Amino acid sequence: MKAPVRVAVTGAAGQIGYALLFRIASGDMLGKDQPVILQMLEITPALPALEGVIMELNDCAFPLLAGTVATDDPNVAFKDADFALLVGAMPRKQGMERKDLLEANGGIFGPQGKAINDHASRDVKVLVVGNPANTNALIAQQNAPDLDPKCFTAMVRLDHNRAMSQLAEKTGAHSTDVKGITIWGNHSSTQYPDLHQATVNGKPALDQVDQDWYENTYIPEVQQRGAAIIKARGASSAASAASAAIDHMRSWALGTTDGEWISMGIPSDGSYGIEPGVIYGYPVTCKGGKYEIVQGLKINDFSRARMDATEKELREERAAVEGLFAK
Ligand code: NAI
Repeated sequence: MKAPVRVAVTGAAGQIGYALLFRIASGDMLGKDQPVILQMLEITPALPALEGVIMELNDCAFPLLAGTVATDDPNVAFKDADFALLVGAMPRKQGMERKDLLEANGGIFGPQGKAINDHASRDVKVLVVGNPANTNALIAQQNAPDLDPKCFTAMVRLDHNRAMSQLAEKTGAHSTDVKGITIWGNHSSTQYPDLHQATVNGKPALDQVDQDWYENTYIPEVQQRGAAIIKARGASSAASAASAAIDHMRSWALGTTDGEWISMGIPSDGSYGIEPGVIYGYPVTCKGGKYEIVQGLKINDFSRARMDATEKELREERAAVEGLFAK
């Protein structure tokens, strides 16, 4: 048996946490031969609820669960963490402007970034799920000056999975028949689900659907899927968000399949003309625990306009939180 790795999860008593922890402990994220120690962070009032979650984790008698830690102290939660899934965030309250939301989350992700900087493994893999995910990831990264900026990523995998499944449904295929989708940019309604390189059963996706459907139905439906789920379920997506977080981390840690790519929110290195530094959804391949941007994709005017619009939103978000970066 391998030595256990430490997986920190914040917002562990929330609804995504409840769907996530059991899958991590059962080996879905890192493999059926990798024991894990779960280090769970919550705010103080939620610690009793978290105790209940831990009772249930214990009651599963998972062979791979090598220990649990429950705490309201980020310095404890991120101690020696190999993986960190930052799920807990400040939800948008009525009347709150986007800027207020960004600042409120800065109060969470700044200190958490610092605690990761001070206590986590030097090659920790951080995934930010809590919204606004891309800019929260940037805030955490900017408060962790001793770590490689590439340690910090944001989740656009749920959008990627949604885009795969909606294209599969339209073309009468299975999601496993769909390849080459990219979610560019922000995990928000400006994200751009790009089908220009996508294939279904090996044939170009855009030859199998009409442009009007792509532009006026598919793109808005992928962008607005989160809102549609809230309307239907009365609560935001949780199991699918947890599943996407598992997929993101598994791809990063264990690698992507040859010839395929996935979408990850990662620090831009200027590829595809995107402002360096912002956390932007890119097509990536993963190998040996590292990710790399897929280069050389042709970008037409249709794509360029949408990639630039979502980049603009991320620049604006960054401008709103720059004061929260470590000097
Ligand atoms: P939830 O409200 O059920 O749970 C959030 C938990 O975080 C709560 O238990 C709360 O006590 C905890 N929390 C709040 N501040 C914390 C802090 N400073 N440290 C540790 N824990 C803290 O929310 P849910 O449904 O689990 O969603 C969590 C986040 O994920 C939200 O921001 C949501 O918008 C986001 N989300 C992101 C998606 C993506 O694709 N990137 C998809 C779906 C949700």
